Amino acid sequence: MLFVLLCGLIYFVAAPNIDTIVSLAKRRGFVFPSSEVYGGLGSAWDYGPLGVELCNNVKQSWWRWLVYERDDIDGVDSSIILNRLVWKYSGHEATFNDWLIDCRKCKGRFRADKIVDNKCPSCGASDWTEARPFNTMLQTKLGAVADDDPTALAYLRPETAQGIFINFLNVQTTMRRKLPFGIAQVGKSFRNEVTPGNFILRTREFEQMEMEYFVSPSAEHSKLVDYWVEQYLEWFGSLGINRENLYLYEVPKEELAHYSKRTVDIMYRYFPEREKPWEELMGIAWRTDFDLSTHSKNRLDEEGKRINPDSTEDLSYFDEPTKQRFYPHVIEPAAGVNRTVLAALMDAYSERTNDKGETRVILKLSPQLAPIKAAILPLAKNKPEIVGMAKAIKRSLQPVLRAVYDDTGGIGKLYARQDEIGTPFCITVDHQSLEDEAVTVRDRDTWEQERIKVTDLAEHLQKRLKPYPLATPPEPI
Ligand code: GAP
Repeated sequence: MLFVLLCGLIYFVAAPNIDTIVSLAKRRGFVFPSSEVYGGLGSAWDYGPLGVELCNNVKQSWWRWLVYERDDIDGVDSSIILNRLVWKYSGHEATFNDWLIDCRKCKGRFRADKIVDNKCPSCGASDWTEARPFNTMLQTKLGAVADDDPTALAYLRPETAQGIFINFLNVQTTMRRKLPFGIAQVGKSFRNEVTPGNFILRTREFEQMEMEYFVSPSAEHSKLVDYWVEQYLEWFGSLGINRENLYLYEVPKEELAHYSKRTVDIMYRYFPEREKPWEELMGIAWRTDFDLSTHSKNRLDEEGKRINPDSTEDLSYFDEPTKQRFYPHVIEPAAGVNRTVLAALMDAYSERTNDKGETRVILKLSPQLAPIKAAILPLAKNKPEIVGMAKAIKRSLQPVLRAVYDDTGGIGKLYARQDEIGTPFCITVDHQSLEDEAVTVRDRDTWEQERIKVTDLAEHLQKRLKPYPLATPPEPI
């Protein structure tokens, strides 16, 4: 967190803790505890009118950046429920486990890897049961079947990645792609987390933005991991996330997932108040050729036996220049929508205290993420000409950018409310506007005001709302 003293005003930059964001999120309609009318549901959250806009803006920014602005990535949207065999051969049925232990004294149940100093977090005892695996894939049943029919078992996907791998050939052939190229997907994933918590940081239902970048087995995989780390640091910068609040964690060999030869996690300072402030925002993994080969019918093990007798397809790639057939390797940047939203909110949070001791919250979201880009405010809501003009301006701006009309308070209150939800511009229509066809445009961050002709307004705002310019990506290695 940064404290800045400017012209007698104190600014707090970045939220001091997650609780500050929980309270703002509920107060202003970003995120509500789910199922509250029935006492809630642990670690489930509903996104309100502003939250859904913020999530959509994160996903749109990501999609625009990867799928539209680059030339080497296509998008897909696969099913959430896939054939159970996908999860058998991906290794999830066998290995997607958390290790559980029970405290013999208080009967509390915990993840073994989260226990500090061998002490029970509830009662402080050190009397544990043996650790046992708990598969965290969420189960469901398909069709009108008996409760104990094992053939009906299906899973809600724990990652979007597998839906990409099983569509590798479909995309490669229909889009006539040559290596290197990527496939991106954004959507819900589910994990039966043993210890969910910390607001939207760890939940059982969440959203992922994953991209699988397919490259030759002879590519420089480790350099490609570094390349994608750099690209994502740039993108997080474009979302207004301060580089000082990000930290790179080289995952040690013993912690790597079964498919990975190297993983770098980008961590965010979600807990500035704690001794250990970092938690994973996303990971960039070199998944080798594990996924495409494990889902392929032709791959043989060391004894010459098919590793996958159930697959009907071979997901190998024929490389025209070298006349070789192989299973491409994969570099995977895997990010969470919810964790990106939380990081963006924490970084955007600021407080301004004036010399009278009054504190105002200003959410300095990057304009591309702001749920509302412009609020149109009439200075006198009892004057029909002013109200009519303000509503007409709202309607004329709406096709170009997200705008709202608001007359539910005095102008000071309306400004404060828009500052708190991160609206970059307030447009005030006053008596003079009726004469000179001009309005006042107030900037959220500087509170400076400019008089702009109504006919120039859309262009003026669009220019100032331009997304953070991301450099043209260098060619991957
Ligand atoms: N395909 C690889 C994969 O799923 P992961 O590190 O398990 O890797 C990627 O997940 C990202 O998904 C995480 O960095 C995080 O942002 C998000 N994520 C994972 N589990 C989550 C949970 N329970 N709640 C919220 N986000 C989660």
